[in-house]
Amino acid sequence: MQLVLERCTIRPWRLNDAESLARHANNSKIWLTVRDRFPHPYTIQDAHEFLQQTISEESALKFCIEIQTAAVGVIGVQPGEDVHPHTATVGYWLGEEFWGRGIMTEAVTVLTDFCFKNFPLRRISAEVFANNPASARVLEKAGFTFEGCLKNNVLKEGKLLDSLLYARTK
Ligand SMILES: CC(C)(COP(=O)(O)OP(=O)(O)OC[C@H]1O[C@@H](n2cnc3c(N)ncnc32)[C@H](O)[C@@H]1OP(=O)(O)O)[C@@H](O)C(=O)NCCC(=O)NCCS
Repeated sequence: MQLVLERCTIRPWRLNDAESLARHANNSKIWLTVRDRFPHPYTIQDAHEFLQQTISEESALKFCIEIQTAAVGVIGVQPGEDVHPHTATVGYWLGEEFWGRGIMTEAVTVLTDFCFKNFPLRRISAEVFANNPASARVLEKAGFTFEGCLKNNVLKEGKLLDSLLYARTK
């Protein structure tokens, strides 16, 4: 699967993406917005492990965001389980030097459109820490609806945070 967009390309990962992936992922501003399982500092070894695991997962819907032939971010869709087979969650990050150019808005819009078209999904949701207005704005611009504020839902860096639930439904 490859989606060539105006501002970036969404494509499968390659083992030789490790160096660029580690360079862009090794950023505390990114780590602060995502789950603690995202390594920080993010080493070349972390990048190799991520790539080996992601490339070996046949059903992985975790993609590389490529700009000018370099891997500069991640966008992934995680399918729901049990009574949630028709749902998925979307997650993403982008290398800081590319922020503010509309790249993630385009990527989230096109990937969610693609998933609704190609999989039997009826709901794609995302949860954003309440101190991350840029990501909330991306979701709004990508057609997601704000569904509610989950109070005290996140403990990040020792701080209790609310999280904001957004979804697109079909
Ligand atoms: C959040 C992130 C993905 C946004 O990617 P991006 O390509 O810069 O996003 P876009 O340029 O498409 O849109 C960003 C929007 O947020 C707005 N924005 C940026 N900082 C903001 C702030 N502090 N307050 C309010 N809005 C803000 C921008 O103005 C823009 O909206 P606009 O087009 O209406 O002006 C990127 O900053 C990132 O990777 N951050 C770290 C990781 C992360 O947050 N991942 C998501 C976890 S839920």
